[in-house]
Amino acid sequence: MKILMVCLGNICRSPLAEGVMRHLVNEQNLGWEIASAGTGDWHIGSAPDKRSVAVAKEFGYDISAQRARLFDSHLFDEFDHILVMDKNNYKDVLRLAKTEEQRKKVSFFLADEGEVIDPYHHNHLFEPVFKEVEARCKKLINQWK
Ligand code: 4NP
Repeated sequence: MKILMVCLGNICRSPLAEGVMRHLVNEQNLGWEIASAGTGDWHIGSAPDKRSVAVAKEFGYDISAQRARLFDSHLFDEFDHILVMDKNNYKDVLRLAKTEEQRKKVSFFLADEGEVIDPYHHNHLFEPVFKEVEARCKKLINQWK
């Protein structure tokens, strides 16, 4: 199974979801492939935000080697599930879908249109966002394995 995590900048939320999910998936030898991308192009090639790297490290995950990339329509065919962090991501990703099959791959990371708040302008949100992401990754693995 191939899962793509998507947010806006691909430096705060989706890198956390990517790194945590990959770590947990590898611990259980599930063989799933995990990646992330952003709908905005400002940070292409950059490491995750220092605050995401720090909170991940604090809880035992190393996301420092990940690099931001732009969401692109060819990724619809590369991944089985495209999980978005908020409603804007959902709209931006769906705008690039060309077929019903592609549209069906897109859903909310938190399910039921739940949104992971963008912590970029709020230092104090990185820890709650991390915890929400980690809990959801564990739940997804238990649902899908
Ligand atoms: P992310 O957070 O979508 O969780 O990576 C953001 C990071 C950067 C920007 C916006 C959101 N930005 O505007 O540069």
